[in-house]
Amino acid sequence: MRPLVAGNWKMNGLASSLGELSRLKEALAARAPAYDVLVCPPVTLLARAVDAAAGAFAVGAQDCHALPGGAYTGDISAEMLRDSGASFVIVGHSERRQLHGERDGDVAAKAGAAWRAGLTAIICIGESEAQRDAGDANRVCGDQIDGSVPEGATAANTVIAYEPVWAIGTGKTPTLTEITAMHGHIRSVLVRRLGEAGRGVRILYGGSVKPDNASEILNLPEVGGALVGGASLKASDFLSVIAGLSPS
Ligand code: PGA
Repeated sequence: MRPLVAGNWKMNGLASSLGELSRLKEALAARAPAYDVLVCPPVTLLARAVDAAAGAFAVGAQDCHALPGGAYTGDISAEMLRDSGASFVIVGHSERRQLHGERDGDVAAKAGAAWRAGLTAIICIGESEAQRDAGDANRVCGDQIDGSVPEGATAANTVIAYEPVWAIGTGKTPTLTEITAMHGHIRSVLVRRLGEAGRGVRILYGGSVKPDNASEILNLPEVGGALVGGASLKASDFLSVIAGLSPS
């Protein structure tokens, strides 16, 4: 399983940020990496990011509409993302679930839209702090997988991102033991739900991944990479996170 390190720029980035992508490309093009690198800039920069990447890393989007087109002012379909050069799309990020009221069924529909357009869906799940404190994290994440991951998910079309809501942008992370336990749980839910196909789906950890903790997190069992927010905005930080992957 090739690890995937994905950067989520969220609502950050102007044309002046494209230099970061050129620096990333320069650094990655000089290697023959045994891992995949992805940057998800705001959609306004998508096509220019694809040009800047020049094939040295993949480019994705942060959300899509479930339908291919129609009277949905302001929305963007998976087909449009694909047409702009995206190969991945994040769906069900906790910021979408919290701030836009997206529910598991919406997320599943968006994942299906991603597949329809030929994109790989990065389906995000994760518990709140209250849910973890109540001992409910496993159940919450299991239910989110059942509700958000459509049947037909494979290693090629789907990536799961486990992002505890309380770890996003806070500098707090679960312990390594907690991350290992949750990733093992997610794997067992995926295998129960998808059979053998569930064994190959990459499970990323996300939430305050930084250069100084990347190595210990990325090398845990069942951690197939990371979804990185703040530390993906500067090429130097993102490259330091990527460097946390053990050479294989
Ligand atoms: P963070 O964000 O790395 O800034 O915590 C992660 C994410 O929300 O994907």
